[in-house]
Amino acid sequence: MNVKEWLNRFLEERLPVKEMKDLSAHKLVPEHKQAVWYYFGGISLFFFIILVFTGMVLLFQYQPGLESSHASVLRIVTKVDFGWLIRSVHSWAANLMLVAVFIHMFSVYFMKAYQKPRELTWFTGLGLLGLGLGFGFTGYCLVWDDMAFFATKIGIDIVEGIPGGSYVAHILRGGPDMGGLTIQRMFALHVVIIPWIFIGLLSAHLFFLQIHGNKIPEEIEKSGQYHKIPFFPNFLLSDLYVWLIMLNLLAVLAALFPWHLGAEADALAPAPKGVKPEWYFMAMFQLLKLMPSQVAGISGELFGNMVFGVAGLFWALVPVWNPATASGRRAKLATYVGLFGIVWLIGFTIWGYMAHPV
Ligand code: HEM
Repeated sequence: MNVKEWLNRFLEERLPVKEMKDLSAHKLVPEHKQAVWYYFGGISLFFFIILVFTGMVLLFQYQPGLESSHASVLRIVTKVDFGWLIRSVHSWAANLMLVAVFIHMFSVYFMKAYQKPRELTWFTGLGLLGLGLGFGFTGYCLVWDDMAFFATKIGIDIVEGIPGGSYVAHILRGGPDMGGLTIQRMFALHVVIIPWIFIGLLSAHLFFLQIHGNKIPEEIEKSGQYHKIPFFPNFLLSDLYVWLIMLNLLAVLAALFPWHLGAEADALAPAPKGVKPEWYFMAMFQLLKLMPSQVAGISGELFGNMVFGVAGLFWALVPVWNPATASGRRAKLATYVGLFGIVWLIGFTIWGYMAHPV
């Protein structure tokens, strides 16, 4: 018996190999003119895997602490072999993952893939988006350079303005002011708490997908202009092909545009000019900036946060107000809401950058 046969027998006697093979042989993926959007969930997953590996490598050198955070990142990018590259890949992958997640969210929204029976896939996806933003926020602070310090400070101050938010802000900061405990807590969130919840939610997300398969957009299903291809090996191979393109994109960006590292944060210094959050918070930040100091007897910032709360809830509950059985008018409303969401997100992000030049 050669090694291959021995290994096959070893596994077959211990695991349901035949059932697993049958399962993968029966999993089919629809192929049609809009199928390109099916790749974005996988692209998000690819960047997440890169983040886990590069994050683990960074952990060998990064030292959280008021005195050590910035110094250790500086050492990583100047002294450690390929440290600058690992850090650059990690930062670029984080940003590219969020770009992919936003595209994925809007594409499943317009395909109405949130409708029955996929509501749980939608809700777990929203959780992943929230955690993805949490990864970005907590990770940005770990570098402890001047931009990151003040952007984190502004972010936590915004949280403080929400009713009940002062407790959350206090927990995040580890006291009334930002300092060593803030780094410690952001670090705990970034490398332990958020990743564990993220992996749990991601497993549920992919499990639901496995059960329901990919949604075929209504018009395409009605027209019958689609066919199904096996997930294994056909779709998996094209998925891997897309991952390879993403790996190239990541390598080029990380090598040609190494991630910036500013001067060490000084809590007593005035905020640097043009301080602003990361791009994925820019639209929200810009909207809050536009608020007058008072609206309808409450602070403008609180009003702005209430608008986000209501709009976010409306967005999250789309499977409820636009179920598969809804009228054509509801479906149209959902399309307009989606278009408005994209225009607002892109428009306010660009506006935010123009209003806060470096
Ligand atoms: C890091 C975050 C995420 C990862 C890694 C991920 C991963 C995936 C993957 C691999 C798929 C299957 C391929 C596809 O249809 O694209 C998928 C499907 C899906 N995802 Fe996500 N996802 C994430 C975030 C989200 C978000 C933010 C939402 C929406 C709020 C969402 C909602 C969905 C839905 C509804 C489907 C089913 C699509 C269908 O049936 O065709 N996901 N996800």
